[in-house]
Amino acid sequence: TVADLKGLKQGQLRLAVITTAKYFIPRLLGPFCQLYPGIEISLQVTNHERILERMLNNMDDLYILSQVPENLDVNYEPFLDNPLVVFAPVNHPLAKEKNIPIKRLTNEPFIMREPGSGTRRAVQKLFDQHGVKVKVKLELGSNEAIKQAIAGGLGISVLSRHTLMPDSSEFAILDIEHFPIKRTWFIGYPSGKQLSIVARTYYEYLLEATKKFVEETGYCTNSPADEV
Ligand code: PGA
Repeated sequence: TVADLKGLKQGQLRLAVITTAKYFIPRLLGPFCQLYPGIEISLQVTNHERILERMLNNMDDLYILSQVPENLDVNYEPFLDNPLVVFAPVNHPLAKEKNIPIKRLTNEPFIMREPGSGTRRAVQKLFDQHGVKVKVKLELGSNEAIKQAIAGGLGISVLSRHTLMPDSSEFAILDIEHFPIKRTWFIGYPSGKQLSIVARTYYEYLLEATKKFVEETGYCTNSPADEV
């Protein structure tokens, strides 16, 4: 249809994404806006639980999250790996060791994300599975704040590898067994929802552009050998 012609697409696009996705999503918005200058975008960045609330209340066009909701029918598609790794200050004693047993984390002061965080949930699940009880020294509601606390020597934490880019020099990723925790970002929306042309265009663009970007750059995967 005429409305489908490139350049004629106009309107608003409301995206809501989990905190880890803010390290990736904005970089693909530039080229998207150049393709479709008539589209205005608003991007909400918040944790897993709040994204679910927004979804339930139909507040946005599209959602990006790492875990598909269990009690809500959604259409979704995976588009990029989102591995969780153990971050420590670069001079940490464990930084030079290999194949560190997960139990070793028991002795480390740990910095944890807030309740409602999907990262926290995934970390807690892995620790529970292996009977690891970490000493939570500090709870922080922001990946960036956690990075600052790690750099300041307050402890170690588990964060998405995406949060490391591009300033990797202050941090070491510890080689702990069962890491990385393999996760994936999904883009989705409630099944009953009728997507606008703008939303559908973005949905398809994201899948296509991410695939190309990963092919070209080898960007961030769940593979343990993946270098940053
Ligand atoms: P969070 O989401 O901000 O809720 O931790 C990140 C994720 O689940 O990848």
